[in-house]
Amino acid sequence: MAEFTLPKNSKIRTGTTHPAPPSPKKPKTFKIYRWSPDDGQTPRVDTYTIDLANCGPMILDALLHIKNDIDQTLTLRRSCREGICGSCAMNIDGMNTLACTKAIEEIDGDVKVNPLPHMPVVKDLVPDLTHTYAQLASIEPWMKTQSPPPSRERLQSPEERAKLDGLYECILCFCCSTSCPSYWWSGDRYLGPAVLLQAYRWIADSRDEAKGERLDNLEDPFRLYRCHTIMNCTTTCPKGLNPAKAIAEIKKLMVVRR
Ligand code: SF4
Ligand code: F3S
Ligand code: FES
Repeated sequence: MAEFTLPKNSKIRTGTTHPAPPSPKKPKTFKIYRWSPDDGQTPRVDTYTIDLANCGPMILDALLHIKNDIDQTLTLRRSCREGICGSCAMNIDGMNTLACTKAIEEIDGDVKVNPLPHMPVVKDLVPDLTHTYAQLASIEPWMKTQSPPPSRERLQSPEERAKLDGLYECILCFCCSTSCPSYWWSGDRYLGPAVLLQAYRWIADSRDEAKGERLDNLEDPFRLYRCHTIMNCTTTCPKGLNPAKAIAEIKKLMVVRR
């Protein structure tokens, strides 16, 4: 279970309460983490009560309703609004997930919305992923080949292609990495489940010719072996993927080649 822990710049205070509109048909209260680098204040939690009768069904719909109609200072990331771009990842009701695919009706009582845990915050619900993207770049997530290119595309058998199922669907939302206690404590050196799943996606690709080099790059007490099979990553993945299994497959390959 991905328990919520406060973002790094915590010491949260109670913020502004925005009351419900007059005579709401279906009131629902949202408690949302707010922090700005510009005002020198500690973070706060603002409370907004909205009428779900005037709002779409997903958490992202509620956040955009708040931003558009109540408080334009609320800052969040989103793009596709259908679970593909990964940019609306946040901690909702104690679980890392995508705001655009999480239904409001799944949550009893007040809805607590926080940025992804244990990451530096840029503003409000926007985490700073600079370090995580640098870690992703470090595993060189693209096909590497030495053999001369064929006249047409590099082919795979259906069986070889099937090995990428459960890997290629990753949208790099980082819900998994930011739910992992090992990544919370050692994220400066541990690559975390999202990046390791990406690493395995290329190791498992029959067309890639850099498997040995990729494994060499991961053979390190921190980069790979800080995974202690805690499994939060797999529990929280909003795409139903299993990064813990991908990490276990890399560890197996390490043993086999010794
Ligand atoms: Fe997001 Fe799942 Fe990919 Fe992790 S494995 S980055 S939770 S889609
Ligand atoms: Fe973390 Fe998942 Fe391993 S939660 S410790 S990456 S199994
Ligand atoms: Fe793209 Fe939610 S807005 S995944």
